[in-house]
Amino acid sequence: MAVVAVYSVKGGVGKTTMSANLAWCSASISKRRTLLWDLDASGGAGFLLGIDARKKKPADSVFSLSRDPCKLIRKTAIDRLDLLPADETIRALDSQLASIGKKKRLAKLTAALAKDYDRIIFDCSPVINELSAQVMRAADLIIVPVPPSPLSARAFDQVVAEVEAHTKVHPPILPVLSMLDMRRTLHRAARETNPRWPAIPQSSAVEQCAVRQMPVGAFAPNAPAATAFKKVWTAIERKLAEKKKK
Ligand SMILES: Nc1ncnc2c1ncn2[C@@H]1O[C@H](COP(=O)(O)OP(=O)(O)O)[C@@H](O)[C@H]1O
Ligand SMILES: [Mg+2]
Repeated sequence: MAVVAVYSVKGGVGKTTMSANLAWCSASISKRRTLLWDLDASGGAGFLLGIDARKKKPADSVFSLSRDPCKLIRKTAIDRLDLLPADETIRALDSQLASIGKKKRLAKLTAALAKDYDRIIFDCSPVINELSAQVMRAADLIIVPVPPSPLSARAFDQVVAEVEAHTKVHPPILPVLSMLDMRRTLHRAARETNPRWPAIPQSSAVEQCAVRQMPVGAFAPNAPAATAFKKVWTAIERKLAEKKKK
């Protein structure tokens, strides 16, 4: 089992969109038993997979060990893809984790799910706190969506500093240019500066994910964005395989 975190210190960079689409690639292309674990209280990952929020708000109980995560996991319409939903209760997760004082709580919770899943993908919230530190300790690989802008590049540097600060041997970090529009000068410049980073184009197909509540591969498999997500997923699988060999 491997854990992939989609993380940035910045909001609105495409984390949730990327998490849902990569989870789809994992389940549908790589045929892996996949869990998308929503760690953002706003619950966008579930929405993108067409899962409605329930009235009960039990997401924090997983972290206090008062509820087995398997009890909260929901099947999606996509084969092999399940969701562990978020709700408002995890807004206080940072202080909850700090007061529990177990630095590896999230890592242990994910390890216990290894019997049921081959890939776990975290859709993270844009915070630097105890929760993000726990994400770093639990993840095998960190994906950072970076839209082509100076503020996003700065956010990427902050992620690298944060990861290095919290783990002795930190997981590899894979930046992905997100929402790339090659008609724009700033975007072309960002592409030239980072020619080896994978990229996801800015596209209406990706915007449609939130309207159709489906990952782009499920409704427009030939769209350039679907191919781009597939490429990012292939790069992720390659990195995980390299890591396993070491
Ligand atoms: N490649 C893309 N092309 C067009 N719109 C995108 C793309 N990626 C994300 N978006 C849009 O940008 C907004 C923010 O994306 P989201 O995934 O919610 O970011 P985050 O989780 O980092 O806050 C959403 O409205 C989403 O539909
Ligand atoms: Mg999000």
